[in-house]
Amino acid sequence: MKVLVVGNGGREHALAWKIKQSPLLSKLYVAKGNAGIWKIAQKVDINPTDVEKLVDFAKREKINLTVVGPEQPLSEGIVDAFEKAGLKIFGHRKNAAILEASKVFAKNFMKKYNIPTAFYETFDNEDDAIEFIKKMGTPIVIKADGLAAGKGVVIANTEEEAVETVKSMFRGLFGEASKRIVIEEFLEGEEASYIAMVDGENLVPMATSQDHKRVFDGDKGPNTGGMGAYSPTPVITPEIEKQILEKIMYPTLKGMKAEGRPMRGFLYAGLMIGPKGINVLEFNVRMGDPETQPIMRRLRSDLLQHMIDILDGKIEQVTPQWSEDWSIGVVMASKGYPGKYEKGFEITGIDKAEKDPDIVVFHAGTDIKEGKIVTAGGRVLTVTATGKTLLEAKEKVYRAVEKIHFEGAHYRKDIGDKGLKRLHHL
Ligand SMILES: Nc1ncnc2c1ncn2[C@@H]1O[C@H](COP(=O)(O)OP(=O)(O)O)[C@@H](O)[C@H]1O
Ligand SMILES: [Mg+2]
Repeated sequence: MKVLVVGNGGREHALAWKIKQSPLLSKLYVAKGNAGIWKIAQKVDINPTDVEKLVDFAKREKINLTVVGPEQPLSEGIVDAFEKAGLKIFGHRKNAAILEASKVFAKNFMKKYNIPTAFYETFDNEDDAIEFIKKMGTPIVIKADGLAAGKGVVIANTEEEAVETVKSMFRGLFGEASKRIVIEEFLEGEEASYIAMVDGENLVPMATSQDHKRVFDGDKGPNTGGMGAYSPTPVITPEIEKQILEKIMYPTLKGMKAEGRPMRGFLYAGLMIGPKGINVLEFNVRMGDPETQPIMRRLRSDLLQHMIDILDGKIEQVTPQWSEDWSIGVVMASKGYPGKYEKGFEITGIDKAEKDPDIVVFHAGTDIKEGKIVTAGGRVLTVTATGKTLLEAKEKVYRAVEKIHFEGAHYRKDIGDKGLKRLHHL
């Protein structure tokens, strides 16, 4: 079977790495990928959002399955275009991808179907938004409606900051994406990610995980695309998982179907678990990055087979098998990220780090220049380790991280600590 993976990040490297192990695979392609993925898949020089060219390529090469990593092509209708051309593709159609692509849609949807989420209102003008901020007080959370690559949410601690944020969003900070905004109550608690494979009505849970959105240790500094993740996460106990399924995942599938927007692909609920119970911060219509990296390290069964079965309407046959090991992924980022950063620095030490068989280094923003692997993005690598315990995985992953070098590299040193605290009642 010929498979095409669409996307350029660490998530796509982890998906490609897993698919590569499938006995069903004959040839793997990636559009466009990165220096890590190109080692295991043939590079296709087409951007992930260049849908027409991707359709042509898939037809010409007789690709049997296309797997879409990022949200952008999904929200631009890549699945609709492939289906129209009679091509198999794993991901949501445009009318379902709106659950991620519009936070206004998602919040109104959750309200309509009684899915627990922070109290909110939506706005399309400054005056009403500012009045609401004054009424609600701070801290308060302001969210651009549309896709903003993980930068569209501001947690404002003062009224002044909140008002400034609202003004800059309406004055075009994120272009079309911030013409409308959501303002919502700040929720206390611990975040977790819950991801499942869905077929419109039913679902198959993936392993649980926890991302780390802030750039610095102790959850300080601005939000990023994600600085590290581990799996499983002890914050999602079996009892909490049961509630997530009953109160969030199934009602979401049912509601979206009732709206004429059936979901098929990965469904990701970003959760806040705290004094106000389990609340949805947002939905994503794809796997998380970096959560995918540690999750794929633990998946024992055949992801490619699972995706095919779901597309063939046989979700009841899908029973993912998970390793008992713990897994951690630590993101190594360019100096300055999530702000401005430079690219083109040579990366060394990956081979050394991967000498330990429990280490896999997934690439994100990397490229090859003059035969050398160089940095080419904000998030550069996700270094992953597995271990019999969370602590063992943590010790291993940081030993590996210390072997890898590029100018200005920075990373969080506390990935996994929240889980360790919980496990050891610290
Ligand atoms: N209501 C909220 N209360 C507290 N923190 C929040 C709230 N909403 C979002 N956040 C924080 O902001 C981050 C980004 O918000 P999210 O809704 O997931 O948007 P996106 O991932 O599109 O940037 C979350 O991971 C969480 O850390
Ligand atoms: Mg999020």
